[in-house]
Amino acid sequence: MINLDISNLTKISPEHGLSETEIAEKNSLIAEYLEKIHARNQGFYTVIDDNSMVEKINNYANEVKGKYDHIVVLGIGGSALGTICLQQSLTHQFKQTSPSLHVIDNIDPVLIKELEDVIELEKTLFIVVTKSGTTPEILSMYYYFRQKVGKENFAFITDPKKGKLREIAQQDNIPVFDIPENVGGRFSVLTAVGLLPAKLIGLDIEALLKGAQTMRDQFLSESADENLPFKIATIQHALSKKNKSITVMMPYAQKLIRFSDWYKQLLAESIGKRLDNQGNDVFVGLTPTSALGVTDQHSQSQLYNEGPNDKLIIFVEDTSTTTDMIIPEIYEGVTFKKLLSVELDATAGSLTKNDRPNIKIQVDSVSEESLGQLFMLFEGATAFLGEFFNINAFDQPGVELSKDLTREALK
Ligand code: PA5
Repeated sequence: MINLDISNLTKISPEHGLSETEIAEKNSLIAEYLEKIHARNQGFYTVIDDNSMVEKINNYANEVKGKYDHIVVLGIGGSALGTICLQQSLTHQFKQTSPSLHVIDNIDPVLIKELEDVIELEKTLFIVVTKSGTTPEILSMYYYFRQKVGKENFAFITDPKKGKLREIAQQDNIPVFDIPENVGGRFSVLTAVGLLPAKLIGLDIEALLKGAQTMRDQFLSESADENLPFKIATIQHALSKKNKSITVMMPYAQKLIRFSDWYKQLLAESIGKRLDNQGNDVFVGLTPTSALGVTDQHSQSQLYNEGPNDKLIIFVEDTSTTTDMIIPEIYEGVTFKKLLSVELDATAGSLTKNDRPNIKIQVDSVSEESLGQLFMLFEGATAFLGEFFNINAFDQPGVELSKDLTREALK
């Protein structure tokens, strides 16, 4: 269950906050915006119903069970950040899973070398993930490891038709999973991109999809009260008109630390655009940044309270108390969870007093189901934002240009 508390927005001055009327401003247009999203891209919210994808992943996981000690994902951006988030959120912070999972999303040789120090190549499954199948970093790492170990140690996740990786899969008969054509990298965590590694380390991918489906139904609702993605996007957009173009994702949950990284890519790459839908220069964007409660209360919160008033802070709270301990001596009967929650409210309270917009999302656990909901919540909100800003949230010409220039420079 996800709960959204936006009450602090109406408690701050009209110059920096939002009134009920401003929050409800676009409500009558929700059906129209949904239509626009349907026309532009349905991939990210329909792929979660693809039972054949789940069946294929489950069958493969059964086939390779016990065969590998290590799973190494070679991917970058949208091909890595969702998996990193799933691993960080849903597995033990200090113990490796069995098999272990390593996501290699950089080509720094130091990283590659240190990976090699801890894996036994013959006992490693390399999952090479690239939607385009042409990303230089990923192809380079594929060829590097391929020269060291046989093709039976590889599986690919890529576009159903295009790209070098698809070609290699066909030539060498390497198991390959599709990323549907209409699902872009940063929207692909709920495809094989996130689901296959998750399944191989024992996570419940059905629950992940169930959570996403619940939120998808809310996302498709024409009732603004039910449609949380619409509400969040409305708030971000309305606040951007009041010069709050920075979104700070600040979970008060250690396990969600990498959720913010996943979201940073989604928001930055989807909404940061030069051209609007009519081809005019608009140079729009929302700048994402992240903080972790309580840790960053002791670093960044000074800036959020008293620096430029240009941010929306999104708190995420995990309200579950299944893991909790009483603090002895200092605060009679208070638990760590209680202290965490008091500190969140104190931080939100100080921001509100200082006229700084902030909202709070509560999840009742950090679980597969709640992660599925959170992914879909922000994918949906990002799709709405694209329409509000009148830009295409699903392309990334800036990123593509740097890939093209890299390829050219290496010719
Ligand atoms: O969202 C996107 O499209 C990008 O950020 C990609 O995820 C990233 O560039 C990696 O691309 P690919 O999966 O094609 O290797």
